[in-house]
Amino acid sequence: MNIVLLGAPGAGKGTQAAKLVEEFATPHISTGDILRAAVKNQTELGKKAKGYMDAGDLVPDSLIIDLMDERLREPDCEKGFILDGFPRTTAQAVALDDMLVRLERPLDAALLVDVDPEVIIKRLTERRCCKECGYIGTAADATCPKCGGEMYQRDDDNETTVRNRLDVYAKSTSPLIDYYKGKGLLKSVDGDRPVDTVYVDVKALLGL
Ligand code: AP5
Ligand code: ZN
Repeated sequence: MNIVLLGAPGAGKGTQAAKLVEEFATPHISTGDILRAAVKNQTELGKKAKGYMDAGDLVPDSLIIDLMDERLREPDCEKGFILDGFPRTTAQAVALDDMLVRLERPLDAALLVDVDPEVIIKRLTERRCCKECGYIGTAADATCPKCGGEMYQRDDDNETTVRNRLDVYAKSTSPLIDYYKGKGLLKSVDGDRPVDTVYVDVKALLGL
């Protein structure tokens, strides 16, 4: 499966990707995770990205496109990939098309996880993630239910930054819905239902 997950911040892309990885062992490539690791390790990329991320703005296309061009050449992608958080602008989508032509790995689908913005603000301000295994949970999880690790709140999950992320999504990323519709690749799932119910539909839409 070669898929792109589309959807607003907090729609549940990472949550659904984790379930697909667990069941199908397809590589999950999240540009947000890659960038957070770069910030934590204070790499050159991390130093350049941090300010944009803290404000909820997009990191410049050139940085992301170079990063993904390299990542998609890695051997694990030969068995497919789940792209989460990329592409996020039309320029990134066009660059991805070029990369996939070169790699001879066409996309099977762009799956939109569709959720109302007001639901998202509550979800994101309550989100907590595991420091050890990356599990995505909520403020109700005192420790990680998977590994017992410590849970933390992402720096960009405060209400002001979340509102900006939603504005950035509406302006820069939502045009990709029409972009992939035009290519006949768009599939859409109602993400405002329990995680497992959404997952059943995700698999059906992807023919899994
Ligand atoms: P990124 O990490 O990609 O953040 P995002 O798109 O804002 O997405 P999230 O990870 O916040 O949400 P999600 O949809 O994965 O939701 P989740 O499953 O966690 O990007 C962060 C930053 O990096 C960007 O702002 C930007 O600066 C930079 N960046 C990254 N990629 C870039 C790119 N390509 N170009 C430029 N800049 C880039 O779920 C959220 C919460 O809801 C959780 O608590 C979860 O438990 C809960 N939940 C999930 N599903 C359900 C459900 N069905 N019902 C109830 N609760 C649910
Ligand atoms: Zn954990």
